Amino acid sequence: HHDRAIRPQSLSEYIGQPIVREQMEIFIQAAKQRNEALDHSLIFGPPGLGKTTLANIIANEMGVEIKTTSGPVLERAGDLAALLTNLSEGDVLFIDEIHRLSPAIEEVLYPAMEDYQLDIMIGEGPAARSIKIEIPPFTLIGATTRAGLLTSPLRDRFGIVQRLEFYDIKSLTSIVSRSAEKLGIEMDQAGSYEVARRSRGTPRIANRLLRRVRDVAQVSGELCVGQEIAQKALDMLSVDSQGFDHLDRRMLLTMIEKFDGRPVGLDNIAAAIGEDRDTIEDVVEPFLIQQGFIMRTPRGRQVTKRAYEHFNYQLPSDLT
Ligand code: ADE
Repeated sequence: HHDRAIRPQSLSEYIGQPIVREQMEIFIQAAKQRNEALDHSLIFGPPGLGKTTLANIIANEMGVEIKTTSGPVLERAGDLAALLTNLSEGDVLFIDEIHRLSPAIEEVLYPAMEDYQLDIMIGEGPAARSIKIEIPPFTLIGATTRAGLLTSPLRDRFGIVQRLEFYDIKSLTSIVSRSAEKLGIEMDQAGSYEVARRSRGTPRIANRLLRRVRDVAQVSGELCVGQEIAQKALDMLSVDSQGFDHLDRRMLLTMIEKFDGRPVGLDNIAAAIGEDRDTIEDVVEPFLIQQGFIMRTPRGRQVTKRAYEHFNYQLPSDLT
């Protein structure tokens, strides 16, 4: 993955998320002073905000190894047991998409998290018995888009829970400048700002747009990326002035044009735009809600005045 070169390695390099950073600095320092494994940590938030990056930084700051897997990849209890028995003391096991673990795997995880013990069933029928295996103290780091997707027994076993927020434009501008420097791209402040403000509050998107902006600058023979060339590239990529992409606009326009701005359920929106419900809920709508273009109501999702204004539509008289 070519993002590796620009990913921050330590908390001091990590930009934004000040509350998370400040808390993790303390928890990491305290665990290190006591010579203990860091408590199990749950990181949640929309895609692209740096959950994996943060897990790697935590392991790095603790001075331990990290083993990475994901919920859907772990099919059998033995898959998880193999990972857990191969950890050294204090190591991090990172499970991405932890909400997608099967119930059988979750059962194995509970005693592992609580008592550093594996309860494994061997054999079948009358000869079946359970054996207990000690595993070294370790840190489970789980990542998920929404904390509410976890079963409560699993959620309750995390001592540290961190929610990643969308980045403000100032932080994103710093991230773009830093990435540009790491990639050897000449870019001025206005260029970084232009990419930042159109990146949906998301570093992964900012870094992707940065690479495309570089392509346009390079082919246009521009030595330094400024606001103008950034704007030209982003317009070409159909990223609008708010940073909305095709899907964002399709969702908002469908809610305005097909549903006349009235509250509408997620499944109806999904059917109308031909997109997966989970994608809308995890990827599309969080930013639109955070930006105040959509709100949740008891009767479904509803577009706001802002959405009408964005597309220069007249607000219907029955909505205020
Ligand atoms: N690259 C992606 N996310 C970042 C962050 N939060 N800080 C610094 N660089 C980043």
